[in-house]
Amino acid sequence: MRMLKLGVAAAAMIAASLSAQAEEIVIKFSHVVAASGHPKGEAAALFAERVNERMKGKVRVEVYPNSQLFNDNKVMEALLLGDVQMAAPSLSKMEKYTKKFRIFDLPFLFKDVNAVDRFQASAEGKALLNAAEGKGVKGLAYWHNGMKQMSANKPLISPADASGLKFRIQTSDVLEAQFRALDANPQKMAFSEVYGALQTGVVDGQENTWSNIYTKKFFEVQDGITETDHGILDYIVITSSDFWNGLPTDIRAELEQILTEVTNERNTLSTQINLENKQKVVAAGTEVRKLTDEQRAKWVEAMKPVWAEFEGDIGSDLINAALLSNE
Ligand code: LMR
Repeated sequence: MRMLKLGVAAAAMIAASLSAQAEEIVIKFSHVVAASGHPKGEAAALFAERVNERMKGKVRVEVYPNSQLFNDNKVMEALLLGDVQMAAPSLSKMEKYTKKFRIFDLPFLFKDVNAVDRFQASAEGKALLNAAEGKGVKGLAYWHNGMKQMSANKPLISPADASGLKFRIQTSDVLEAQFRALDANPQKMAFSEVYGALQTGVVDGQENTWSNIYTKKFFEVQDGITETDHGILDYIVITSSDFWNGLPTDIRAELEQILTEVTNERNTLSTQINLENKQKVVAAGTEVRKLTDEQRAKWVEAMKPVWAEFEGDIGSDLINAALLSNE
């Protein structure tokens, strides 16, 4: 009789544990950059670590870095199909879902990441987070990377140096216009293909942050890097509205709480991480070219017409709000 009771109890425990396992929510978080030494890689890893520790048995986050699961543009489709639950694409890659993020690609609009942070924290910036909700994509947070630098297979000092060169760009019409303004040939291409394309000469140059240039070794296949700081590369942490709205309220609240903590902690470190990556590029013997104020002013002037081209889509009020964040 006792044996029977123990048997029943064990069976009940197994059933309970199986049902607990079955109820664990798995969040696949896919991104394209390095897992460590990179603002986004580190933020995604910390988010997973905190959720897996504090929500053990209820939610498990699995991070897939380095385009292991999906590359930049495919990840949004995967999100809507339910193949992944979270991602953090750059704002430049959201064009298919909203044109509102075009503001972030305007060249020489934000003077640094702190200005971007102030803009994103403003009423206008917060409202933008929901810009793609109509397409089923929910914005949860902004994550910082940093300012972009430019490189090619020859020195870039004046805008005329870029003329006629092929540049890899993210899938953004603003970035396309930016390189056309330099009389260059922009080519939209997935991040995972950039190193190979630079190495084989499919493209001559690229623009990216120090952390992407170092961790993906672009500096190895370029003549040098010009410190242009001409634009921002920042991220939006996204999920599908269906998945998010389907979560139990308490689970959603706890995930939001952890995401806010991680966002606040990691965003303050992005500039430092980019600086460290820049130092590694320098230590590798790559020439880093600084521009004088006069030289930089020429790049500003050459790219300025891009603003007028997209002002209609973005709205002059929003551009003015962004400009105010520089002060
Ligand atoms: C790029 O494609 O250059 C970047 O968006 C990659 C990234 O996620 O930082």
